[in-house]
Amino acid sequence: MNVYEAILKRRTIRKFTQQTIDRDILKKLVNAARVAPQGANLQPLKYIIIDEQTLLPAIFETTKWAGYLYPHATPEAEERPVAYIVILNDLNIKKAGWEIDAGAAIENLILAAMQEEIGTCWLGAIDRNKIKEILNIPNQYHVESMVALGYPKEQPVMEERNENIKYYKDNQGILHVPKRTFDEVVFYNKGVEQR
Ligand SMILES: Cc1cc2nc3c(=O)[nH]c(=O)nc-3n(C[C@H](O)[C@H](O)[C@H](O)COP(=O)(O)O)c2cc1C
Repeated sequence: MNVYEAILKRRTIRKFTQQTIDRDILKKLVNAARVAPQGANLQPLKYIIIDEQTLLPAIFETTKWAGYLYPHATPEAEERPVAYIVILNDLNIKKAGWEIDAGAAIENLILAAMQEEIGTCWLGAIDRNKIKEILNIPNQYHVESMVALGYPKEQPVMEERNENIKYYKDNQGILHVPKRTFDEVVFYNKGVEQR
């Protein structure tokens, strides 16, 4: 799969098979994040790979899934992620503005996961204090985001729509993800219009 195809095909996955992911693959995903573009090349981010089975239930409790459908798209017990990667910002390296660095790193991670046919859900609605407590994370680190991982057990579809961007499930349970159309989001040169 080439990069552009992967970018278009990527969808957030919220249902996973229970097949485990090799530690080496998880390391490869962190490595992809590690080399992302970073402001002033400060590289303030650190990563925690969570693949120990006994930790997964407690980590799952810190997550919230699909706000527009909540709680109807929360993974059932047999559909939950089999691993997580926590993205930390090292406050000793960067005190503000790390979110953009994290965005670049996380997208790298997610696209590298696609190549391994691993589904991901970027999780921002997380209980950061609880995560710090469960994993004994020192205060030097801010819990930025978490990525949930597993082999996909659903195939969401993208559709083009400008009016209502809320994702929804059809009567077969398939998740539809609206994306604003190309013409809606692009301007050329001095042709920026009020829309
Ligand atoms: C910063 C950020 C935070 C997100 N947090 C959550 C989350 O907490 N829970 C969740 O289910 N999805 C979360 N998502 C996934 C979005 O809901 C998803 O990207 C969006 O609906 C578009 O779907 P797509 O990724 O398939 O294009 C998050 C995405 C981003 C970029």
